[in-house]
Amino acid sequence: MLISSEMNAAINEQVGHEFAAMLQYVAIAAHFDGESLPVLANHYYRQAEEEREHAMRFVKYLLDAGGKVAVPAIPAARGDFASAEEAVQLSLERELTVTGQINGLMDRAIKETDHTSRNALEWFVAEQLEEVSSAEALLGLVRRAGEQGLLLVEDALARRHAESE
Ligand SMILES: [Fe+2]
Ligand SMILES: [Fe+2]
Repeated sequence: MLISSEMNAAINEQVGHEFAAMLQYVAIAAHFDGESLPVLANHYYRQAEEEREHAMRFVKYLLDAGGKVAVPAIPAARGDFASAEEAVQLSLERELTVTGQINGLMDRAIKETDHTSRNALEWFVAEQLEEVSSAEALLGLVRRAGEQGLLLVEDALARRHAESE
């Protein structure tokens, strides 16, 4: 095994956090779907898919490194939101939490002089910058538009997705 048993356990925990993020994004997407805001809904369904990919990237890493995969229990997702802003705010808070978790894994890799894990974690460090920056941008947009202006947010998001395709 290329990694310590502590690193193995910490990565299994992170697999749980990534799946928890996936479930939270499904819940946020479903909230927007229920509010007839399909572009926001699709944005979060896609985010959910990305979180599944993050979890699987860690699973594959553990297998490559000769570790043992143990998927932990996943806490329930929150599905009730008083406003769009509240839902988007939660997504930003979750991304900041995950960034802290990834940094914690990186701290461990550095402490253990585990260069293999460090290299694998670099990808996640870069990814979290993207995730936090995009969640902050969306929160800014939702705040500026206000609850009455969510169709403008839908238009802006649709344009952003069209550009990135
Ligand atoms: Fe993630
Ligand atoms: Fe994320």
